Amino acid sequence: MDSNKRPDSMARINTVELAEKFIDEQVAAVRAQVGDKKVLLALSGGVDSSVVAALLIKAIGKQLVCVHVNHGLMRKGESEQVIEVFGKALDANLIYVDATDRFLDLLEGVSDPEKKRKIIGAEFIKVFDEESAKLDGISFLAQGTIYPDILESIKQAEGKKAVKSHHNVGGLPEDMAMELVEPIKLLFKDEVRIVGDALGLPHNMVYRQPFPGPGLGVRCLGAITRDRLHALCEADAILREEFEIAGLACKVWQYFIAVPDMKSVGVKDDSRYEGWPAIIRAVNTTDAMTATIEEIPYAVLHKITARITNEVEGINRVLMDLTPKPTGTIEWE
Ligand code: XMP
Repeated sequence: MDSNKRPDSMARINTVELAEKFIDEQVAAVRAQVGDKKVLLALSGGVDSSVVAALLIKAIGKQLVCVHVNHGLMRKGESEQVIEVFGKALDANLIYVDATDRFLDLLEGVSDPEKKRKIIGAEFIKVFDEESAKLDGISFLAQGTIYPDILESIKQAEGKKAVKSHHNVGGLPEDMAMELVEPIKLLFKDEVRIVGDALGLPHNMVYRQPFPGPGLGVRCLGAITRDRLHALCEADAILREEFEIAGLACKVWQYFIAVPDMKSVGVKDDSRYEGWPAIIRAVNTTDAMTATIEEIPYAVLHKITARITNEVEGINRVLMDLTPKPTGTIEWE
């Protein structure tokens, strides 16, 4: 039987009871696969890798070694939450690597979106490889592959053209001498979330909106500079906070800020103030292949605009992207 094919008989996991049953089965399966050997996991803090981490901690405890690479392109507070939840609350074997300078130095002056994506993907693998080379006796590599990833890679193998290079699937080198552990590879996203809930992960981690592997790197448009990246990170945090307050966070599929590499003339404290615009993107979709624009109440937009322009150094305007997909992709790069 093809282990990458979801059996027709597999019930949709849509209750806590079914999630708990799934967890028990996977705990047993992982223990049987791994024995007393060690397993390595790249823990990004996204839903999938977080659920795999929690599941494996339950199954094999300290035999799991999690590596969290902070590429400096995370959203505000995300790496801190990984350390808090996994390093502290779940007492995981967690290696935290702050590789911010490496990534930002390599990206300096690079404005082509595909080049940026490739650099980030390749450097991520390099950092991860370096960390794993320092470890002894690792026999397994765990991955947060989910069923849509498998379906997507089948499509790509069949020669359908990818619009952008996503590096989550098939990005790891083929010569890795480790056997894969992929406990959620037959699950759809909604099922992964129910399993994450049942494992006791924080709600905001389990229901986190999608976030691309290259992170804020593809939202700090053109050649990334540290000051503009910082402004983007702060503006994005304000947007997320205000969406939570307005009750929009659970209604809108994906929302974020992009900051282009251009300035316009503005005024602040009675003086000329040249700054970047912050562009709000808020979309709804079911499969990310097409997307519609979410209508955001003007009062919320006014508040976000006031906060971003007052609180974020370097930003003097806030714009709203009203383009559905197609023609605009969800990310700008
Ligand atoms: P686009 O911009 O292609 O994005 O309309 C569709 C969805 O995919 C996310 N995205 C990525 N996800 N790695 C990922 O895991 C990536 O490199 C990547 N690029 C885009 C995007 O945020 C949206 O949800």
